Amino acid sequence: MPGVVIVGAQWGDEGKGKVTDLLAENANAIVRFQGGNNAGHTIVRDGEEFKFHLIPSGILYPDKISMIGNGVVLDPRILLGEIDGLKRRRVDVGNLRISANAHLIMPYHVLLDTAGEVKLGKLSIGTTRRGIGPCYADKALRLGIRVQDLLDVKILRKKIMAALEPKQQALRELSVQRRKLRKEAGEGAREGADQTVAEAPDPRLDLHAMTEEFAGYGHRLEPHIADTARLCWDELDGGHTVLFEGAQATLLDLDHGTYPFVTSSNPIAGAACVGAGIGPTDIDEVWGVAKAYATRVGAGPFPTELHDEVGRHMLERGHEYGTTTGRERRCGWMDLVALRYAVRLNRMSALTITKLDVLSGIDPLRVAVRYRSREGAVLDSFPYHQSILHSAEPEYEELPGFDLDLTDCRSESDLPAEARAYLDFIAEGAGVPIRLAGVGPGREQVVWIGEERGVL
Ligand code: GDP
Ligand code: IMO
Ligand code: MG
Repeated sequence: MPGVVIVGAQWGDEGKGKVTDLLAENANAIVRFQGGNNAGHTIVRDGEEFKFHLIPSGILYPDKISMIGNGVVLDPRILLGEIDGLKRRRVDVGNLRISANAHLIMPYHVLLDTAGEVKLGKLSIGTTRRGIGPCYADKALRLGIRVQDLLDVKILRKKIMAALEPKQQALRELSVQRRKLRKEAGEGAREGADQTVAEAPDPRLDLHAMTEEFAGYGHRLEPHIADTARLCWDELDGGHTVLFEGAQATLLDLDHGTYPFVTSSNPIAGAACVGAGIGPTDIDEVWGVAKAYATRVGAGPFPTELHDEVGRHMLERGHEYGTTTGRERRCGWMDLVALRYAVRLNRMSALTITKLDVLSGIDPLRVAVRYRSREGAVLDSFPYHQSILHSAEPEYEELPGFDLDLTDCRSESDLPAEARAYLDFIAEGAGVPIRLAGVGPGREQVVWIGEERGVL
């Protein structure tokens, strides 16, 4: 007691990193349970910014255990880069533990992710091109390579050989597509495309070279490799608090999100059980994190999206540029239909509303309360049918805006009445209490809502 899951309530980038860092103060362990380096979680402490892709957002507390759970897909080069970056900044990573069962993102996963996107053309998902989908696909195909395989070169070589063989055809097609890819590489394709445009034969796809390279990563990661599920049990059974930090978000969930415009894992709270190795009754609380408005990176339906100066305001005031890919995030109004769905799906016990400060200067504020289908039907709940969702028109309630700069507010009474009314409206519509509001990126820029300060 207690296990607390932190989950994204929208399309990602809600501020999960900041909320995890805040709540971690009263926890003993922090566990990432799914996703990979498609995530970008930001923490701002004393004006210093940290961006984590794989490392749990509890790492800034050297006395707490930060774990990468079995449900995560891990690119060892990225992880080692993060570890080195933290060491340079004198952050102690001695308590980082990595599940021996986590799957590895291999160079061919990154290549296949980019190739898949290029092949889809206009229908592309807008993935981060970090190899996430192909890695989870190999896991399901039982062709995955796990962290523990890094510790035995013979096993590692055999497994890479087995995984590479069925990809030869796709990788051959890739080299044919190279010219096309070179063109694409300019627009945010980054790492994946850079690798794809390399001249053949690509040493990164050479069995021997890859085995050597990854065995080297194994040597470096070995002190951190552990049975993280057991570590979680020890903490929970000892009565300590464990935070389970979600990446991505509910509407990007592989099963429950806006498929196929989703990620390849399950970011919802229930997945913490599978991705960390705990039981459902180990979870005592689920904290959802939502922005005071909505954003989305990549393609897919987004009913409340704005293409006007209000959307521009959100983009600029909210610095809505992807932490991982630098892409502009699409911006829109708060969507209560989608939020209610996320609240129920995750059975949230509390909600955090971040970036309330960004709304200052927008008047009136609008909140989507229901959708209307093309045929005119009223939709109070999130439609499961993608065609309906694609064409659904939101209907809004208007609320008075506020002009006050909120960034120095620290208590509920500091907030203008309109901001409080906006939060009350969201809590009422979502059906869950708001416990915390964010008024700036800094960890101190929060307002606890209600009588109890903190919870854990
Ligand atoms: P995550 O992926 O959910 O952890 O979120 P990201 O780190 O990708 O994006 C959230 C961005 O908003 C980061 O740049 C944070 O520093 C910033 N942020 C978090 N909370 C607040 C807030 O309350 N107000 C403002 N203005 N920025 C915030
Ligand atoms: P955090 O944890 C926002 C999106 C991508 C794309 C889709 C699939 O920082 O909130 P993928 O590379 O996962 O196969 O891409 O999911 N996406 C995210 N959007 N925040 C994230 O993570 C995301 N991780 C993936 O933009 O639309
Ligand atoms: Mg992010």
